[in-house]
Amino acid sequence: MNHSERVTVLVGVTGGIAAYKSCELVRALIKRGYRVKVVMTEAATEFVTPLTFRTLTNEPVAVSLWEDDPSAPVHHISLADEADVCVIAPCTANVIAKIAHGRADDLLTTSVLATEAPIVIAPAMNVHMWRDEVTQSNVAALHARGVVFVEPAAGELACGDIGEGRLAPVEEIAAAVTVEAERARDLAGRTVLVTAGGTQEPIDPVRYIGNRSSGKTGFAIAAEAARRGARVTLVTGPTHLADPFEVEVVRIQTALEMHAAVMARVGEADAVVASAAVADFRPAETVSGKIKKDSIPEAITLVRNPDILAELGERDLGGVRIGFAAETSEVERHAREKLEAKRCHMVVANDVSDPALGFGTEANSVLFVTRAGVESSGVLLKRTIAREICDRLSRLLAGGHTA
Ligand SMILES: Cc1cc2nc3c(=O)[nH]c(=O)nc-3n(C[C@H](O)[C@H](O)[C@H](O)COP(=O)(O)O)c2cc1C
Repeated sequence: MNHSERVTVLVGVTGGIAAYKSCELVRALIKRGYRVKVVMTEAATEFVTPLTFRTLTNEPVAVSLWEDDPSAPVHHISLADEADVCVIAPCTANVIAKIAHGRADDLLTTSVLATEAPIVIAPAMNVHMWRDEVTQSNVAALHARGVVFVEPAAGELACGDIGEGRLAPVEEIAAAVTVEAERARDLAGRTVLVTAGGTQEPIDPVRYIGNRSSGKTGFAIAAEAARRGARVTLVTGPTHLADPFEVEVVRIQTALEMHAAVMARVGEADAVVASAAVADFRPAETVSGKIKKDSIPEAITLVRNPDILAELGERDLGGVRIGFAAETSEVERHAREKLEAKRCHMVVANDVSDPALGFGTEANSVLFVTRAGVESSGVLLKRTIAREICDRLSRLLAGGHTA
């Protein structure tokens, strides 16, 4: 991610007849104040020359992975890092397919795979290519991963066919880039505390009471908030997930440790996103040595753990408070109750009774419950849900808030 004053937009141009319209897009983006760098596929150079884009952008135009750019030791990585937003317009069926499958066999697709920046795709192709099931399933896969599509328009196509497939109007594509550019830095200057994962409450040195939370959603939120410029601390229960980039990670085991870690850091937070599944109770005593098979206790006495989110609400700590509710029935009603009882600004609720969604899976479908109403996310990858949560968090932070 580029941290200079000017937003850098990486424009990918691919081998479609609409490639000439990219020249107008580049001009529109420059007019909006962006620094624009163009990467072309080999096929795109059959339609427009790199010289045109070099002249328009006053920047070198890259085509090959193997070209020598003396200013960049590893060119695709430097392009990926520099980009605040990446837009591919026009995007061929071929490049959509390659990105959907993680292929990286030219400079453009390698840069796209390497970038953390939001990706906007404006497809343009023959109507039959666009409608083909394989293209549509590639589009759906990328959409679920958070890629923004500027849908092609309908009309007469260059090939003579009539139908959808024309590149969307240049201003529409530029507007989509602006939305992403603003989103890319909308949490800059904010401090966000995220909790994630499940806690483990020890019975003895080898056994514990735990839950099925994987931590994926909380990690995705922390990563997304950091990408968007926030200073992020992630307090997490045990999980195999790697630390997100640019996030301070505090690993704890028990609810009491999570309580202490949150309370020690919440003073600085503009927002708390409490996605951890904190155990409601713990064994009253932890046995110091491993309990042997022949001395199994008749019962384990449990005591209540502190309710971290309720305490933050009661003491009005942490700025904007977003809670999570994992329910198996009457999801919306429980979420509304939680919103009030814990004085949250939003509750993200999901039904964990569906084994295909929720705990440990890659996708989820949630309700965003606020005092203003309820919205459903539909089924999305957790990374995309994290983006939706950060969008709402950003709006709550910008608009002031009342619990
Ligand atoms: C005249 C001509 C026009 C083309 N227009 C398109 C198009 O609009 N969209 C598309 O997906 N492919 C189009 N193609 C096919 C692509 O150029 C071809 O799939 C190529 O491999 C794409 O390479 P790239 O995806 O690396 O840019 C066209 C080909 C020709 C010869």
